[in-house]
Amino acid sequence: MQVPEAVRWADGGDAIDLLDQTELPEAETRLRITSADAMAEAIRALRVRGAPAIGIAAAMAFAFEAARHARLERGEFLERLAATRALLLAARPTAVNLAWALDRLDRLVGSLSDAPNGVVACKLWGEATAILEEDRAMCRAIGEHGLALVPDGTRVLTHCNAGALATGGIGTALAPLYLAHERGRALHVFVDETRPLLQGSRLTAWELGRAGIPVTLVTDSAAAVLMAQRRIDLVLVGADRIAANGDVANKVGTYGLAVLARYHQVPFYVAAPCSTLDAFTPTGAGIPIEERAADEIRRGFGRLTAPADVAVFAPAFDVTPAALISGILTDRGVLEPPFVDGVARLTTTAPDVVA
Ligand code: MRU
Repeated sequence: MQVPEAVRWADGGDAIDLLDQTELPEAETRLRITSADAMAEAIRALRVRGAPAIGIAAAMAFAFEAARHARLERGEFLERLAATRALLLAARPTAVNLAWALDRLDRLVGSLSDAPNGVVACKLWGEATAILEEDRAMCRAIGEHGLALVPDGTRVLTHCNAGALATGGIGTALAPLYLAHERGRALHVFVDETRPLLQGSRLTAWELGRAGIPVTLVTDSAAAVLMAQRRIDLVLVGADRIAANGDVANKVGTYGLAVLARYHQVPFYVAAPCSTLDAFTPTGAGIPIEERAADEIRRGFGRLTAPADVAVFAPAFDVTPAALISGILTDRGVLEPPFVDGVARLTTTAPDVVA
């Protein structure tokens, strides 16, 4: 199956190649990233976005920076790595995958205290590559576990983009859809536009359409009508962080969909790899929620779409309470409510890096 690659090595590991998602669907522009500064900018600007993809991209940038500074004296080298980690970690606060990936590399550096800088840099390159490859495998496993949710004829509603563009593989929420389609099952995917940055219309509709999966684009506010008309069998979304009790942070609007799904008795599932589970944040109330710039709403894509000085509330994410979630689809199987034991069992995030 051919899906777009959000992030990959270029020039034999001498650069990182990103598909600039701010340009989609108008243009498929690939960027060549050669510094952590440029990667932090790309993450902040959503050129690369989606929880797993930003973890992978940050890990690659960290490894890249280690190679660039391997000739420094040890103390300076370690200082440079610490500053790089802080820079990348601060780029976006909500998705735990960023901290998860950087912590993994940090622990590797700690375990190599006797190795020369060049060896440390080489091992970091291998670990970042492993994070990318593992994510690819986790996406496929999520897809396999999720196949039972999408029998022939399923009509799915999804929000934002939790597809190939958000991961190193075939996505999280979109993975079961890709696999079901590949196996010849009929599917119809309703895609929320996803205000204000339109990840649904610009990215999800684009990547599913490219794969030949039938898509209907809807405005976010049409979801209620679709459910009332019994035209949705399943709501399937991704996650940026899942707290110990199963509360889920995901793109703003997800919580509203979960409320609608409960009212209309439509199953509401969240798909995420284990790298998105965070058993060290007890509930969703402890998840830091990124707020975006007011002009992303006042000046949608460069045009004035509101009074220039109107006050704006622009959370990028919201938290869906665990009580509204029918199941959490992971690479290691489907967790059923209550989620506490399952999240604890599958969490791989270390407590010292969780914001
Ligand atoms: O702001 P974004 O585009 O990074 O938000 C992405 C989402 O909310 C996704 O649903 C989530 O990261 C899961 S991606 C597999």
